[in-house]
Amino acid sequence: MAERVLVTREIPEEGLRPLKDFEVTVLSEKIPERGELLEAVKGAAGVLSTLTENVDAEFMDAAGDGLKVVANMAVGYDNVDIDAAQERGVVVTNTPGVLDETTADTAFMLLLAAARRLGEGERIVRAGRWEAWGPKMLTGPDVWGKRLGILGFGGIGQAVARRARGFGMEILYYNRSRKEEAERALGAQYLDLDELLRTCDFFSIHTPLTEETKHLIGAPEFEKMKTEAVLVNTSRGPVVDEAALADALAEGRIFAAGLDVYEEEPKVHPKLLELENVVLAPHIGSASIETRDKMAVTAGEDLRAVLRGERPKNPVEG
Ligand code: NAP
Ligand code: GLV
Repeated sequence: MAERVLVTREIPEEGLRPLKDFEVTVLSEKIPERGELLEAVKGAAGVLSTLTENVDAEFMDAAGDGLKVVANMAVGYDNVDIDAAQERGVVVTNTPGVLDETTADTAFMLLLAAARRLGEGERIVRAGRWEAWGPKMLTGPDVWGKRLGILGFGGIGQAVARRARGFGMEILYYNRSRKEEAERALGAQYLDLDELLRTCDFFSIHTPLTEETKHLIGAPEFEKMKTEAVLVNTSRGPVVDEAALADALAEGRIFAAGLDVYEEEPKVHPKLLELENVVLAPHIGSASIETRDKMAVTAGEDLRAVLRGERPKNPVEG
């Protein structure tokens, strides 16, 4: 009998092709209720999850002893309890690499939009409040030629650096390990976090969410930044202290921010919603048609590999 596979949300069709030999249940496009999820996972040998599902010990135990693999259709896997998976012998996989360029595009889009006040401008036009071109209207800092500080210099951070080179930016980075090859290839310079915060004009965050990176950027870090600084976060919401960011923006401690991720998605800190100097995107970092297809295929193929007794391409080692 074919093994059971649970796909926790509707995903691009491409991702279901590798699963054709299994008995597949696909839940709806909406985030499943916890009770529905725990019921649906019973007896599954494989789960293709997305970042909105909490894949914890309770979830794995609800699946039962036959659970062999959780393929998370995301590069970030902070929604999966890796220790609990390892204790139960469940392989976890993610989707690195295939989304680097698309997510870097999103980060750069937010960086430009926040600096050049696109959100404010759009709101003025749509409200019929635009009267004429103005010599001082909606001016913001240039992006080209400025100093960009990248926090987390992995796949996406380096893809952002490639874009920044095209804008003639000076590229500086902070990472827990030095990336000397990438430094040479991209003309990037390593700085410690304190120096990076004090000297850069723009910041783009690309670390994973871990115990060490939670609130990596908060009130003390905003104190160190220039008042013209622009911060972009496309990593995970809790890497930035959202309340402290809202205060820093409201008080003019920094110039602007662009966010794709939030501490309690889909909730956004109410103070941020009131501010003009923050661009708010609804976690669409990797949301191109091509990239979502690739993410779904990557997850589907790795799930199939594990159920066939083969080594997956993207195991998460924890
Ligand atoms: P990656 O290739 O693993 O890069 C992450 C980088 O962060 C690595 O260079 C890593 O250093 C560094 N790092 C880890 N912990 C750190 C710490 N405590 N301090 C400083 N640096 C640290 O991951 P990626 O593919 O670029 O993705 C990064 C994150 O972006 C994901 O985890 C995910 O949460 C987020 N993301 C969001 C979206 C979106 O839709 N908004 C899309 C894709 C990804 P080492 O090399 O030393 O480990
Ligand atoms: C998206 O946020 C991802 O981690 O892939």
